Amino acid sequence: MSACLKSMPNLCKHFKQCGGCAMLDLPYEQQVATKQARLKEILKDFWSGDIPVTQTDDPFYFRNKVELGFCRQPVWKEPFDKKVKRDKTLPLEFEQTLGFKLKGRWDRAVDIEECVLFDKHLIPLLQAVRAWAQAENLEYYDHRKHTGVLRHLMLRVGKNTGQAIVVLFVTDDVPEKTFVSAVQSVWPEANIMLAVNTSLADTAAPESLRVLKGRDFIEEKIILTSPRGVQEREVVFKLSPQSFFQTNTLTAQKMYSRVRALVKEIEPKVIYDLYGGAGSFSLSCADLCEKSLCVESVAPAVYNGIENAKLNGVSNVQFFCAKVEDFVKQQPINKKDALIILDPPRSGMHPKAAKAVAESGVERILYISCNPVTLAVDLQILTQHYELTAAEAFDFFPHTDHIETLVQLKKK
Ligand SMILES: C[S@@+](CC[C@H](N)C(=O)[O-])C[C@H]1O[C@@H](n2cnc3c(N)ncnc32)[C@H](O)[C@@H]1O
Repeated sequence: MSACLKSMPNLCKHFKQCGGCAMLDLPYEQQVATKQARLKEILKDFWSGDIPVTQTDDPFYFRNKVELGFCRQPVWKEPFDKKVKRDKTLPLEFEQTLGFKLKGRWDRAVDIEECVLFDKHLIPLLQAVRAWAQAENLEYYDHRKHTGVLRHLMLRVGKNTGQAIVVLFVTDDVPEKTFVSAVQSVWPEANIMLAVNTSLADTAAPESLRVLKGRDFIEEKIILTSPRGVQEREVVFKLSPQSFFQTNTLTAQKMYSRVRALVKEIEPKVIYDLYGGAGSFSLSCADLCEKSLCVESVAPAVYNGIENAKLNGVSNVQFFCAKVEDFVKQQPINKKDALIILDPPRSGMHPKAAKAVAESGVERILYISCNPVTLAVDLQILTQHYELTAAEAFDFFPHTDHIETLVQLKKK
């Protein structure tokens, strides 16, 4: 029996209620086999070979970031029968919940009392925050009426550094000192921030962000190893609450190490790091090429990338704040000794970007995808000029049906 099966906790009491862990009732090896079979089916028109999957060594408490919602909602007595009409002459009873959204619902949250995804600080922290909100008589957000002061709670931890940040999203003033004391009672070393978000949209995007204790960022490290497991390079990332970073640090660093090994083998002079975020691939491979061009559309991620390059003493990465589809139009790809790395969001590539990459003439392309369905759509275009030479996957998201895929393409 593998180490991960041995450490499997009892099935979470919120299983099937909250949308977090759809596959938690399957042993981990079976989850991986199910995802692998689905991936083979989706990619069958392009690849008939094996698709090895790199697993998460310990698939519990691996996530480095979670965002939870505060919800004021009518009490919902299970089992809920849609055919039974509510007696509208009776007043509604309300409850306040803090947790992940109820599966399929935008306006209700499950009051989380256990969770196998995030760090073990999560549950004591939720208890402390609930007690603080009750003591201060603060109302949770009502998603239908847009009332209430407490909206979201975001936690982020550096798995390789131990640094942590807690951000409370509110619509109005709250007692700050007592909030800091509540967080410190369970997580004394955490940085603490307060964000104001009065917009109607249900995202954790703040209008303002202020430090209550410590700093407005944490550092996380990626440790890059050779295929034999020898440490080759370390990259430090400065992460603000909003910066994109893979949520499973330890498995992500295996993927970055694998990409680094392929770059070593390909020996490009120039890397086009398209959909580059804060430069993870460029910084992981900066010592292996003459220069890297990192193209990313979100400005704060680009600023983080520039800062991260400085932090790591890297001077051969150029950062471009642009959409890839615009970048390839304005600055045609110079194919000589170049490698293209693609890592688009779940929606995949813009068809114009896929076409430009397909016609770029570079010898090799590495495509990293968090959504095999859109990967297959983009491969329809890319394989007009390229063929797949290998496919593999990394299980970044244990207990969910998501999987990260890496395919290698070679010019026909
Ligand atoms: C899956 S993330 C990859 C980030 C980075 N490669 C990493 O490993 O951390 C995809 C990135 O693409 C960016 N993005 C989304 N659409 C884009 C577009 N049309 N052009 C450029 N970047 C885009 C997102 O902001 C996000 O940072």
